[in-house]
Order: sequence, then C-alpha cells, then structure tokens
Amino acid sequence: MFKHNLLRQLSRTSTTAARPPTLHRAAPALRSSFTTSQSRLEKQDDPEDYSHYTTAGEPGAFKHEGQHSRTDNRIRVEYPEEADLPRQQPVQGRGGFHFKRTLASFSLEDRVGVVTGGARGLGLVMSQALVVSGADVAIVDLNKDEAQHQATILMETFKSENPGAENIPSVTAHYADVSNPDSVNHALEEILAAHGKIDNLVTSAGFTENFDAIEYPYDRMQKLWGVNVDGTYLFATGVAKHLMARKAQGSIVMIGSMSGAIVNVPQPQAPYNAAKAAVRHLASSLAVEWAHAGIRVNCISPGYMLTALTKKILDDNPALAEKWTSLIPQGKMGRPEDLMGAVTFLCSDASGYVTGADLRVDGGYTVT
Ligand SMILES: NC(=O)c1ccc[n+]([C@@H]2O[C@H](COP(=O)([O-])OP(=O)(O)OC[C@H]3O[C@@H](n4cnc5c(N)ncnc54)[C@H](O)[C@@H]3O)[C@@H](O)[C@H]2O)c1
Repeated sequence: MFKHNLLRQLSRTSTTAARPPTLHRAAPALRSSFTTSQSRLEKQDDPEDYSHYTTAGEPGAFKHEGQHSRTDNRIRVEYPEEADLPRQQPVQGRGGFHFKRTLASFSLEDRVGVVTGGARGLGLVMSQALVVSGADVAIVDLNKDEAQHQATILMETFKSENPGAENIPSVTAHYADVSNPDSVNHALEEILAAHGKIDNLVTSAGFTENFDAIEYPYDRMQKLWGVNVDGTYLFATGVAKHLMARKAQGSIVMIGSMSGAIVNVPQPQAPYNAAKAAVRHLASSLAVEWAHAGIRVNCISPGYMLTALTKKILDDNPALAEKWTSLIPQGKMGRPEDLMGAVTFLCSDASGYVTGADLRVDGGYTVT
C-alpha cells in the first residue's frame, strides 16, 4: 500500500516536471481570476506553480471546486405514505374531437395497452394518452382502489369529451406488486381475461428515495431495485411471451429517467440512478433480443416532472426547486402531459422503425 502511494507521488512529481513550457507561461493570468483562498495563495512560493488550479490541488482548497456538481449527504427524502399524496385529476382539454389533421399512424385504436404504476403520477397521464388515442387500457398498480377510481374517471372523461363516439375505450384496473413474479403473472392472466390480448406495455411503476449511500438501509435498496428493475423486467418478459405466442407485433415502453444517464445534484440517490441506467439498457438489450419477433422496446427518460410526489418533495425542501431549474436549459420542470406525445409515438406505428432508443424528455437537462 505504502509502496503504491509512493510510486503514485513519484509519478505525479515527474508529470509536473514534464509540463510543457507554454502552460507555465499562462499561469499568472489564470490565478487572478480563479483563486478564492488567501491562505492557499500565501503558500505559493513558486509563481509558476499552477497545480492548485488542477485536480492535483488539495481537496477543498478552493470554494469553487465542484461546488455546483456535488451531492449533499444532509438531504434525505423517504418515499411518502400513500395518504400524504393528493388524488389526481384527469388532464382536461387535450382530448376531444380532432379538428386538426394528424397522421393516422399515431392512432392506437383497436390496441390494448397495459400501464404499470398507472393509478397516479406519470403512469396515470400516460394511460390517459393511450385512451385519448383510442386504446383500451389496463391500469396495474399496488393501489387497486385508486386504479379503479381513475379507470372509471378516464372512461367518463373520454365520453364527455367525445359525445358522438361509437367506441368508448374500456379501461380496467388490476392489482400487482410488479416486483413479485407470481403477482405479475396473476395480473397478466387477469388482463388477458378482461381484454383478450395485449399490444402495448408501459412500465411506469417505480419510485425514488434520497439517501446518502452509506446510510441507505439494504432492505430498502433491494425494494427500490426490485420495483424499478425487476418489475420492469418481469412485466416486459410476460408481455413479450404473450406477443410471441400470438405471433403479434407489439411495442413496449420502459420509463427510465434522466438519472440513468447523469448524476442528479444535490440530492444523493445512487441506487435509483443505477436502477434507471439498468432500465435504459434493458430496453436496448431486449430491443435486440426481440426484434425478430416484431416487438419493439424503447425507453423514455423523463427529467424533473411536476407530479404530486415531486411537489411534496419540493414543498419539504424549497431550495431544491431553484437548484433543479437552474440546471435545466428550458428553465422549468416538465408537466406530466409532456409525456403524452412521447408515449403515444413510441406505442404507435408512427415509430415503426424505432427500437432500442432512449427518448429523453428533460427540457435539455442531459445535454449540458
Ligand atoms: N416524477 C418525476 O420527476 C420522474 C422523473 C423521471 C422518472 N420518473 C419515473 O417515472 C415513473 C413514475 O413516477 P411518478 O413520479 O409518476 O411516481 P408516483 O409515485 O406518482 O407513481 C408511481 C405509481 O407506481 C405505483 N407503484 C409503486 N410501487 C409499485 C409496485 N411495487 N407495484 C405496482 N405499482 C407500484 C404507485 O402506487 C404509484 O401509483 C417512475 O418509474 C419514476 O422513477 C419520474
């Protein structure tokens, strides 16, 4: 160990000695614009030593070092109790007759879609997108009562927005814990009994918690990965098996997150980030594995979306809102409705040649 450190120090010394002379000449100008620590400056005997501007400086020597790209281990957000979240209303004014022409290939008429985690949040709004586009929908959730309530409201909303419609989409509610294989299989049997087939799957059941990784209880981490990763895998394989048995084409949309590609700051959430990276790559891997069967698999990676859950997190931690929006090029959080077009596109024939893609709906967060 000691020998290893010694070798590393020696190699650093020799790297410093070998720096090109042009960089040495640029050093004095740089120092005046970046230096924030007086005590550190006083230690600079050599005016040509600019090593403190690099990662070779002592950690924490300068206030600016990484200050906008660090997690803060004091932030802790546990997933709230069901009763602490308000009931959601359907999105209004976005259905109705289509007065404007659009491509017929976006229609989901005669399709059956399954949405996991569809009783609330993004899953519920995406369920509505499928219904508005003409699909029958099976909402799957741990909270069956809420799923049932919302299924009824979605059908009523469709009827009131389409008074002359001959075909009213059928929306059903089903219980499943997506992390449990028996529960998933039982739900799939129930859905097939109710609808006769499945064409589309949207896996939105998932949750996040913010904990410093060192502190996060292991059983909660297992649950987090179980719901986000196993749940996605179990539903996707179950639906793919059904499509293959039917020799039918289909489209699966996995809800990942921009957290699968970047590390959010300042709230720590390493297990969630890793889970969403797994979801994204699961989509690509299964897209390749099932392409021969005409089954497309894509991922939607939302950025910060304003759901009841994120509203609650921001109410409890108001400083986070400012920090988050300061990092989004569009300067605002997304609305759940912003996913309606993306999910309809990926489920429909309009995306017939799109598979294995990750569609980021994040206001540009991940490109900066
Ligand atoms: N809200 C955001 O800003 C955001 C951003 C990126 C990604 N996402 C992802 O989008 C998805 C939906 O998030 P949301 O904000 O709508 O969350 P939400 O908590 O509002 O809704 C999640 C739904 O999933 C259900 N659920 C949870 N565990 C389940 C289980 N084991 N089995 C079946 N259902 C279960 C819940 O009952 C709830 O109805 C999640 O995968 C989340 O990670 C959300």
